[in-house]
Amino acid sequence: MKTVRIEPRYSAWRDEARRLLAQGVLPDSIIWEDEGSEIESLFGGLDSDTVPTPAGPLKIPRQFLELAELVACHSHPERWALLYRTVWRLTKGSEKHLLQIMSDRDVNRLNDFASAVRRDRHKMKAFVRFRKIGLDEESGREQFVAWFEPDHHIVELTAPFFAKRFASMDWSILTPDQCVHWNGRKLEFTAGVSKKEAPDSDALDDYWRTYYSHIFNPARLKLKAMQSEMPKKYWKNLPEAPLIAELTSQASLRTGEMVEAPSSQRAHVSERIPAGVPKPAPKPIQVNPVEVLRQADTLKLSEIHDQADHCRACQLHDRATQLVFGVGPETANLMIVGEQPGDQEDLQGLPFVGPAGKLLDEALSEVGIDRSQTYVTNAVKHFKWKRREKRRIHQSPSADEVHVCRPWVLAEVLKVRPKVLICLGATAAKSLIRSDFRLLEERGTVEGCELAERVIATIHPSYLLRIRDSTQHQTERAAWIGDLKLALVA
Ligand code: URA
Repeated sequence: MKTVRIEPRYSAWRDEARRLLAQGVLPDSIIWEDEGSEIESLFGGLDSDTVPTPAGPLKIPRQFLELAELVACHSHPERWALLYRTVWRLTKGSEKHLLQIMSDRDVNRLNDFASAVRRDRHKMKAFVRFRKIGLDEESGREQFVAWFEPDHHIVELTAPFFAKRFASMDWSILTPDQCVHWNGRKLEFTAGVSKKEAPDSDALDDYWRTYYSHIFNPARLKLKAMQSEMPKKYWKNLPEAPLIAELTSQASLRTGEMVEAPSSQRAHVSERIPAGVPKPAPKPIQVNPVEVLRQADTLKLSEIHDQADHCRACQLHDRATQLVFGVGPETANLMIVGEQPGDQEDLQGLPFVGPAGKLLDEALSEVGIDRSQTYVTNAVKHFKWKRREKRRIHQSPSADEVHVCRPWVLAEVLKVRPKVLICLGATAAKSLIRSDFRLLEERGTVEGCELAERVIATIHPSYLLRIRDSTQHQTERAAWIGDLKLALVA
């Protein structure tokens, strides 16, 4: 047995793993320990200085490297062993396609770890609140500090997001794990600190309360979702938390006001930030979807999502509550593309969660497809609707709207690289297969589309929702299930 002690960061693990692989050291013969961990090894350490680095680069799938960078941030002590066992199986064990086997225990665990880290990063981006602590006399720049308690070691990976967003102020984010400091030019990392070192409260709390009460969108109010998104643990550090009860009690009243208000009265969020408080660095009002697609290789899926949030390439964003981007593991083998979010999807910010989503869920489980392992998205990212009495009625997107939104869904395909791609309905098929695709004549497996190894076009579940006659409904549904089963053919 060898004990390998590493600085607990991805690059340290990667360098060590390269050496060990070159030496042919079996996964079972290594005990991984974090440097600075209190567990004293009973076994001799491996002297990494005396171990040669491999001569040539190892062929490791990019998908693994991306996953490994996230998994390395997980706080579970077994992450290093899990990563090494997986990279061993991928390279020495000749299990080249291992990452596609979702039922494999290691793959499953890797994906779980990566998802937990993604969630933690998302929470850090959403819940960090800066407090003003003073002015740097030399530079004349104001200084801000925030306290945050992440579940995992995500500070280093998430810090560039804050550097970009709050580029023009000096700030520190203090956590028990690690701290990061920005001085307008570079990020610096120091050891974690205790909460006592973070300042408690000042005028900035008022700023956050004002900001929050303005951006609070009662139409989106889902208490359960809100509580799972913003667990109690984070509430205690949020100055706006005391406002939540008050705002939620007014929600139904304000929903009515908002739906009726013409879009010109809905000020852009950045216009609502009160004067005299740190504004986030100005965000581009216009992002160019084609440009983002061009750079998709160098961007993370979450960064593409962030950019899409600011897309104004068509007018649909104007009346929609929010952008609805794809959801699901980036490592998914199967990607499903629908048309556009509906009423429920628009309110919840998630694809296929309304009546069509329910039909889809039932069909997937009947066919034996696990939705949680599938990446689900839409050809168009905003809800297009017209009002009929109190309801918001779906309107089909125009060919132009589908066209300008296409780079976003293509970027998702590029990042996820699914083996199987299912287009639900004509809009998705026209966006991704061919603009003159005829769904009813060409449904089923489609030849000649290179977006995935297998591309399937089938009807949209909303089509079934519109069929009143039960015999016809059953016949169409059976044909749909038949199409979906094509995804499983070996
Ligand atoms: N219809 C779609 O095409 N997509 C959704 O997300 C919901 C309904």
